[in-house]
Amino acid sequence: MTDYPVRMDVKPEVSAHFDPATNTISYIVRDPGSDACAIVDSVMDIDYAAGRITYEHADALIDEIERRGLKLEWIIETHVHADHLSAAPYIQQRLGGRIGIGENILIVQDTFGKIFNEGTEFQRDGSQFDALFKDGDTYTIGQMQALAIHTPGHTPACMTHVVGDAAFVGDTLFMPDGGSARADFPGGDAGTLYDSIQKVLALPDAMRLFMCHDYGPNGRDIQWETTVGEEKAHNIHVGQGRTREEFIRFRTERDAQLEMPRLIIPALQVNMRAGEVPKDKDGRAMLKVPVNGL
Ligand SMILES: [Fe+2]
Repeated sequence: MTDYPVRMDVKPEVSAHFDPATNTISYIVRDPGSDACAIVDSVMDIDYAAGRITYEHADALIDEIERRGLKLEWIIETHVHADHLSAAPYIQQRLGGRIGIGENILIVQDTFGKIFNEGTEFQRDGSQFDALFKDGDTYTIGQMQALAIHTPGHTPACMTHVVGDAAFVGDTLFMPDGGSARADFPGGDAGTLYDSIQKVLALPDAMRLFMCHDYGPNGRDIQWETTVGEEKAHNIHVGQGRTREEFIRFRTERDAQLEMPRLIIPALQVNMRAGEVPKDKDGRAMLKVPVNGL
């Protein structure tokens, strides 16, 4: 674990944009030594009942980048989200940048390509993305080195992205009082999630951690930033040395009681295509509902 190249002296500027409709936090990560930046986990707005897609949240990210005169180099997806739709292609069209995700997107595309009975026009080779990261791969944002760590369990393609002293954990961990993400989606696994969380907790204690989601447990205000040290000391699911066996038992029992996320059906179809809405045979944007398929 300790052989990942971590640079705690590099301190990116991180600005957070909370989406109240899906409790998602999108980030703009800026290199303090240049005008380069990356976006982590953007959101496209959807009124699912009406089948209507809009871009208020993405426009706020774009506006901030333009107002600050930044150059967008990367549009990172920590994983194929099941609870919100990515706005990556919309943002890329406006600002450029490369869309990156974990290489196990191929597994996710295969699994959900079958569930949604997609035809051969849906490529399962990750070619909808500009970059597919393997564990330990590095890339640059301006002069900063960024590092992708494979942290599966919630989904097979989950990655944690480490940029200097900041790590974007996606849905491996929540805030200490929120615990951890569910591990019961197709391809998820509680034991694998526990192992991945240990990889995150092995980073330096002072590492800033940025969550993809927060639900304000017990009525507290929404928060998204903590540290490795805080998670190790206080996380209600994995902190204070909870064992792998205890975590698996707890996580499995809890997941059995959770309902499917409200937007999982549209989110998977869009996000497995890097944020593109699928088209029907006449080229119209169209979503499916697989009956009893999930
Ligand atoms: Fe997720």
